[in-house]
Formats: sequence, structure tokens, C-alpha cells
Amino acid sequence: MSAGVATRTVAEDLPTLPADKATLEGLGAALFFDENLSRNRNQACATCHAPEAGFADPRPNGLDGPAGRAASLGDDDSSIGDRNAPTASYAAFSPKFHRDREGHFVGGQFHDGREPDLEGQAGGPPLNPIEMGMPDKASVVERLKENEEYLNGFRLLYGADVFEEPDRAYRAMTEAIAAFERTDFFSPFDSRYDRYLRGEVEFTPDEELGRTLFFSQQFTNCNLCHQLRQRPGMEKETFTNYQYFNIGVPVNKALRAANGKGQGFVDHGLLENGAVDDPVEDGKYKTSTLRNVAVTAPYMHNGVFNDLETVIRFYNKYNSRAKSAAVNPETGEPWGEPEVTATIDMKKLTEGPALDDRRIKALVAFLKTLTDQRYEHLLDD
Ligand code: HEC
Ligand code: HEC
Repeated sequence: MSAGVATRTVAEDLPTLPADKATLEGLGAALFFDENLSRNRNQACATCHAPEAGFADPRPNGLDGPAGRAASLGDDDSSIGDRNAPTASYAAFSPKFHRDREGHFVGGQFHDGREPDLEGQAGGPPLNPIEMGMPDKASVVERLKENEEYLNGFRLLYGADVFEEPDRAYRAMTEAIAAFERTDFFSPFDSRYDRYLRGEVEFTPDEELGRTLFFSQQFTNCNLCHQLRQRPGMEKETFTNYQYFNIGVPVNKALRAANGKGQGFVDHGLLENGAVDDPVEDGKYKTSTLRNVAVTAPYMHNGVFNDLETVIRFYNKYNSRAKSAAVNPETGEPWGEPEVTATIDMKKLTEGPALDDRRIKALVAFLKTLTDQRYEHLLDD
């Protein structure tokens, strides 16, 4: 790979990619696809947030079985993380990390909100030793300086001396990436659901049932956490209220065995966020957006489930007394133990009746309608 040329493998044929290198968005687009920002020049943001795969990581990480795609491989081709790469689509809609009037933590980036916004987030991966693996900001800035387009673009936008202080140039880089992440390229709002709201398509009976169930306060609890807008059907719903909950996700033992963390390790979720120290937040994770969820398996912060239907059956275990509801269909064994049990939100999780097979399938059908148009070809059946 030649230094100084931004590597763009998949971007060319996608629509609406900002190309003008004299704009922050245009620079951000080039940076997002640029593998030169990683130590071995083999990993870009787009490697783990692939625009052709729902902005999540479609790569196998070399592990067999259920850990095979749960967490991403680093730029050294051997390090494996402990958390699943969430979609970067619609991430721009997460508000800045804050506490609301009732004292709940809301928003931020990462599963634990530890970066307050996209700019802060974008500064993380290049320096993360198990991701892009660069030693420090100055060395990342040296890589930026190899590229004529970056030199010209950043000087134009930030002043001729922007490269003199590595901190300033690094900050400019994160602002460009964040500006790109805020474009429609990441958030087109053109899924079947959006087209349905605009009266352009009709739902099948299953999708319609799923929609009704999802937003119902009587038949499911989904909307307690996965609805931002006041009323169902309001535009630009991102299907998360950006709050943090412990829903009792089982430990991904296969992943822990493979990534060297071992079985004694505990991910404390929101409590891993430096701004949070109250033990009531232990084991909570940011409620995921459900946009593009059908094309961004596996699921949960640790990628422990492979199928959407399993996710719904997992929620159903809290409400169904059927014997089969106690079993994870992917393993054929009882649902595994969560890492942290004391803070599980039993009140919200047990709100609503058990779901029968028809309703489970209808909810899956509805979740599939949240897939942006460009990914519809990836949906099975
Ligand atoms: C090696 C794979 C990898 C690379 C490379 C990578 N990410 Fe990520 N990304 C992840 C993982 C894993 C998480 C979740 C980590 C966590 O919560 O602790 C994440 C989280 C995010 C989030 C938060 C989304 C949300 O809903 O909270 C955004 C945005 C994001 N990455 C953008 C980027 C950008 C921009 C770059 C390039 C500068 C990048 N990522 C590089 C794996 C990667
Ligand atoms: C108490 C709040 C709460 C309720 C109720 C709830 N969820 Fe969630 N949901 C979450 C949180 C928090 C996560 C992220 C958990 C994690 O990453 O470990 C999540 C994750 C998910 C995911 C996986 C997303 C991904 O990309 O990994 C899906 C799918 C999902 N929920 C669907 C639903 C559906 C459908 C319902 C109703 C049957 C529902 N949820 C009810 C809080 C909730």
C-alpha cells in the first residue's frame, strides 16, 4: 500500500459520499476510509464500521463458533476486543453524554457513553492498542502530513499553522470525521419503515402486527427503552431513548476464553465510564439503536446472540413460563448468567405479557423494516 494515498476500497460506488476536500465532511470521508491511520496501514474506521454492511464489522475474527464475529480483530491481526462494534449509522443522533432531570445518564458514544460526543469518540480508535494501534497523537499527525489533500484541506479550514501542534491537528482530524458521521451518508432515513410513514409502501400483515406490538404499551415493553419520540410514527425515530439499562445479557464465555480476558473478568458497563461512580449504574449499557439491526448481527454489547429472533426470545424469558422460554435456541442450553445481576431492571423487563411464536416472528419482521434501502438486499427472505 502506498503511503500518502487515502485508501478507499468500498466507498466509490456508494451514493452521497462528500468528495470536496475543502470541506470538513469531505476530509472526514477520506479519513474514515484511510487505512494509513493505523499502525500497520491495514485498518480504517470503515474496516469495523463498513458502510456496505450497516456500518458494523462484517469480518470474521478468526475464532470458531459463537465468538467468531462477536468482537473485532485489531490492526495487528491478532488482538480481539471484548465488545461488539455497534453500527455507526445514526450514531450522530445520540445526545452529548449528560444526566437528565430525573438523574438518569443519557447519550454519549460507545456502549458505556465514555466519550461524550462523536469528536471524542473519533480520537479513540487510532490510539487504541487493540484497534488501530498508533503510539501517540503526534505519530497519527505525521501520517496525516503524508497526504497532500489533508495538508491543503486542514490548512484551508484551520489555518496555515494547524500542523505545528499535534494536538490541534489531531483535534481537527476528529472534527472532520465527526462532521462526516453527521451527514446523510450515515443516516438516510429511507428504510421501509420511513417509506411506510411517508405512504410510499404498505406493510405486510406480519410487519404491521410487529409495528403495533412494538409501540404498544400493553403487549410489549420495547417502547419503554427503544422509543425516543413522544408518539409512534414521528419522523426520525432512532429507536433508542439513549438511556442505560441492565437487561441481564449473558456473559459471552466463548469470547472471553478467546480474547484472553478469562472468565474472572467483569465488564461493568456504564460504571467503566470515568464520569460515573455510583454502583447503581453497574452493568448497564446504552440502549442500542434498532436502525439497521437486521443487518448488523451479532447482538448486544458482547455479541452474544447471532439472530434477532434469539434477542426477542431472550426478552420473552422474563415473561413466559413455558419451559422452552428458559432455553437459548442458539445453544440449546438455559440462558447464561449475566455479569452483574444486582441492577437488572426487572420492573421494565417484566412489563407486558409473554409473546407467542407468531408475535415473536412479527416483531422480527418489523425490526427488518428498519433497514436502510441500500442494505435491503442483505436481508434474508
Ligand atoms: C477494530 C475495530 C474498530 C475500529 C478500527 C474502529 N471502531 Fe468504532 N467501535 C468499535 C467497537 C468495538 C466499538 C464499541 C466499543 C465500546 O463500546 O467500548 C466502537 C464504537 C464506535 C462508535 C460508537 C457508536 C455508539 O452507538 O455508541 C462510533 C461512532 C465509532 N465506533 C466510530 C468509529 C470511528 C470514527 C473510527 C475511526 C476513527 C472507528 N470507530 C474505528 C470498533 C472499531
Ligand atoms: C429496560 C430497557 C429495554 C427494554 C424493555 C427493551 N430493550 Fe432492547 N435493549 C436495551 C439495551 C440496554 C440494549 C443493549 C444491551 C447491550 O448492549 O448489552 C438493548 C438491545 C437490543 C437489541 C440488540 C441491538 C444490537 O444492535 O445489539 C435488540 C434487537 C433489542 N434490544 C430489541 C428490543 C425489543 C424488540 C424489545 C421489546 C420486546 C426490547 N428490546 C426491550 C434496552 C431495552
